[in-house]
Amino acid sequence: MAKIGLFYGSNTGNTENVAFQMKEEFDKILPGVVEVHNIGRSTPEDILRYTYLIFGIPTWNTGELQDDWDAFMPRFDSMDMTGKKVALFGLGDQNGYGFNFLDAVGILADKVMERGAQVWGLWSKQSYEFEESKARVEEYLLGLGIDEVGQTEMTRERIRTWAKDVKKEFAL
Ligand SMILES: Cc1cc2nc3c(=O)[nH]c(=O)nc-3n(C[C@H](O)[C@H](O)[C@H](O)COP(=O)(O)O)c2cc1C
Repeated sequence: MAKIGLFYGSNTGNTENVAFQMKEEFDKILPGVVEVHNIGRSTPEDILRYTYLIFGIPTWNTGELQDDWDAFMPRFDSMDMTGKKVALFGLGDQNGYGFNFLDAVGILADKVMERGAQVWGLWSKQSYEFEESKARVEEYLLGLGIDEVGQTEMTRERIRTWAKDVKKEFAL
């Protein structure tokens, strides 16, 4: 069966932790399919090897990309992502950064769509409270939102539900 490449970047470890929880949940429904990589140690070729991709990114410095994703960003410009299916998850803090909640998810989603990929794994914005987000499209977020500052108790269930959604949407 096709593999899913999960690429994450993390400054203080939360997104890394969520990436491995995500793998645990996927392993229950698609054993051994998800392969986890740190974007800080990955090349464009590492990404292009996969048709199915999950990108995990926290927002930092008020509406900015996490450092390793930020450094990787120019490399997308030489990548043809036509035919790739990408699902995103983001970490953020809706109470502390309610005007930039999960902005990095929106920025990264725009970039992969510009490179020809399809974005899957949209998620309702209903269970969050924030003012503005570049990840928001009407009633949806462009990926799963995780808030390890204000809603830690919801994390595991959110991951579990989203993993099942993505499995269906990827038709795996
Ligand atoms: C200085 C600073 C700036 C931040 N800026 C944002 C932001 O603009 N939007 C947001 O949703 N979260 C923001 N956050 C929250 C982080 O995204 C959150 O703590 C996340 O869990 C960090 O993930 P990491 O440990 O994988 O780096 C910020 C946190 C700090 C400390």
